[in-house]
Amino acid sequence: MRASNSAKFITIEGGEGGGKSTNVEFIKQYLTEQKIDFIHTREPGGTPLAEQIRELMLSKREEKVAEDAELLLAFAARAQHIAEVIRPALESGKWVLCDRFTDATYAYQGAGRGINMDKIAQLETMVQNGLQPDITLLFDLPVDVGMKRAAQRGELDRFEVEQAAFFERIRAEYLHRASSFPQRYRIVDASLELPQVRAQVLGIVADVLE
Ligand code: TMP
Repeated sequence: MRASNSAKFITIEGGEGGGKSTNVEFIKQYLTEQKIDFIHTREPGGTPLAEQIRELMLSKREEKVAEDAELLLAFAARAQHIAEVIRPALESGKWVLCDRFTDATYAYQGAGRGINMDKIAQLETMVQNGLQPDITLLFDLPVDVGMKRAAQRGELDRFEVEQAAFFERIRAEYLHRASSFPQRYRIVDASLELPQVRAQVLGIVADVLE
């Protein structure tokens, strides 16, 4: 395994149907080949408690979920995930590959639901205490293409049933954040065919390794 003190925190982001899961498998395969010691985890989730919170966030229900309740659930899950999984892994020299992180909160709860970004920033400071991803891969594609792909996967969750305008706001926010944090973000054109997407992804990860 490689030297432990350079463990990277890599996050994967994007709207619905962008092929995150498929591409994460390519990244995992590549890191394994490169003998990188890593863990793969996800948000919301990644610990038993945080997975229960995920279930609360994603399941459809008759009761209207207050926007702040949704926001706090996301950060409650994150606090647990950071304390129990992410920080211990990084401190022990393991890379962390995480399917979604706080950029998703800015995109979904901020732009999607319309929650004030300052409120999100306050929670980010409180919960993360300076922890930020080293690299964020954004799987970007037109909303209509992503929604069609997501619909083919089966039953839609509480977010996936939202209208196109919700996902347009999410896409715009992700792109806005990518231009605000160019040193951290890498945009992947997820509308291309899988081999081309895979090549982009592996190029980015190879760069990180250098
Ligand atoms: P995914 O596993 O398909 O990415 O689903 C997770 C869903 O949760 C996705 O619709 C985005 C949403 N989400 C938020 O709304 N806020 C967050 O902070 C995170 C991490 C995810």
